[in-house]
Amino acid sequence: MKAFYRLSYFIAIKYYVVVDMGKIRVAVAGVGNCCSALIQGIYYYRGAPDDSDIPGLLYPNFGGYRVEDIEFVAAFDVNAEKVGKDLSEAIFAYPNNTRRFAEVPRLGVTVMNAPVMDGIGRYLKDIIKLSDEPPADVAQVLKDTKADILVNYLPVGSEEAVRWYAAQALEAGCAFVNCMPVFIASDPVWAKKFEDRRIPVAGDDIQSQLGATVLHKTIVKLLEERGVRIEETYQLNVGGDTDFLNMLERERLASKEVSKTMAVQKMAGHEFPVKIGPSDYIPFLENRKICYIWIRGKHFGDTPISIDVKLSVWDAPNSAGVVIDVIRAVKIALDRGVGGPLTSISAWGFKHPPVHAPASVARQWVEEFIKGARER
Ligand SMILES: NC(=O)c1ccc[n+]([C@@H]2O[C@H](COP(=O)([O-])OP(=O)(O)OC[C@H]3O[C@@H](n4cnc5c(N)ncnc54)[C@H](O)[C@@H]3O)[C@@H](O)[C@H]2O)c1
Repeated sequence: MKAFYRLSYFIAIKYYVVVDMGKIRVAVAGVGNCCSALIQGIYYYRGAPDDSDIPGLLYPNFGGYRVEDIEFVAAFDVNAEKVGKDLSEAIFAYPNNTRRFAEVPRLGVTVMNAPVMDGIGRYLKDIIKLSDEPPADVAQVLKDTKADILVNYLPVGSEEAVRWYAAQALEAGCAFVNCMPVFIASDPVWAKKFEDRRIPVAGDDIQSQLGATVLHKTIVKLLEERGVRIEETYQLNVGGDTDFLNMLERERLASKEVSKTMAVQKMAGHEFPVKIGPSDYIPFLENRKICYIWIRGKHFGDTPISIDVKLSVWDAPNSAGVVIDVIRAVKIALDRGVGGPLTSISAWGFKHPPVHAPASVARQWVEEFIKGARER
C-alpha cells in the first residue's frame, strides 16, 4: 500500500525502536553502466550496520529504509545483448564497461525490450544491435509488477523516449527518478502532471557523490564566500564509455550543457562566462572519467588568481550511492502521500533540480525531509 507505512515493528539493537518499512519495488529504463553500479552497490552494501561509517554510503539507514530494502521488479532496454537476459547478467553485457565490484545473484527479472524512439543516437547505432523482440507495454508492466519507482537511465539526448517513459510512469501511478538531462522534475509542465496525480518525481540529471559538478559548484561557492570575483571558468570532461561516445553527437547535448552550466552558475551571485561540457571520447578510459576545472578571477587589489583542478573517477559508481538515497527518499514521499517534484532530495542529488542550493544547504533540507520537517 503506497499511502501508508507498511508497519511491522521489531526491537532493534541499541536502545531504540526501528520501524521495518517494507521493500521498495524499483523498475529501471536503461540497463547501462549506471544501472550496473546501482545494482552491484545494493549487493555490496547489503546488511551494512546502521551506525557504521562506511566509505561511499552516506546513509546505511535512510529514514527507516536500508539498502537491501531496494529490490528490482522490472527492467527495460533495447540492446539485443541485454534484452531477454536476467538483470544480473545484463548489467555486465556489452558495451557496459564499469568496474565489477560485487557479485550479483540471479534476480529473476528478465530485461524487456522497449520502444527505442530517439534512445540510440548516431554513434551508438554503430555498436549496439537492437533487439527484435516485441516491445513491452511499459505502463502495464509497471502496474503488473507493482513497481513503486521507475528509474530513468537513458542516454543523453533521448528527449522523446524520456518523456514517453515519464508518461508511462504517470499512467501506471509509479514515481519517477530522472537521472539524465531531459527536464522532467524541473520542467513546470511535467512537474504539474506529477503534482496533479500526487505522484513523486525527483530529478533532473544525477549529481555524482564527488563528481565534476559538485566539486566545481563548491569551489565557486567558496571563492564567492571569500570575496573573490570570478571572471571566467571552464570544465572539460573526457571518458571512454557509451555515455561519452553518445555525447560526441553535439546535437544531443543541449540539455546536458544547460544542466551542468546552470548548476555551477547558480552558486555565484553574478554572471560570468562559463563553458562546461563533455569534450571527447577516449575508448581505453572505459568508464573512467577525467575532468579538468579551471577558474580565473581577481581578489584584493584586483590581483589575479586562478585555480586548476584535475579529477579522475569511475563515473557509474560515483552516481550509484546518490541514487540509492534518492530511491529511498522517493519511497518516503510515497509513504507520506506527497506528490510532485521533491525539492530537497532533488537539490541534493541532481544537477538540474527544481530549486538549486549549495551542497551544505541541500543536505540540511534532506535531513529535515527525513525527519518530516520539510514536506518535499
Ligand atoms: N555518474 C554518471 O555516470 C552520470 C551522472 C549524471 C548523469 N548520468 C546520465 O545517466 C544516463 C545513464 O548513464 P550510463 O552511463 O548508464 O549510460 P549507458 O550508455 O551505459 O546506458 C544507457 C542504456 O540505455 C539503453 N537505452 C537506449 N535507449 C533506450 C530505450 N528507448 N529504452 C530503454 N533503454 C534504452 C542503452 O541500450 C543502454 O543500455 C546517461 O544519460 C548519463 O549521461 C550519468
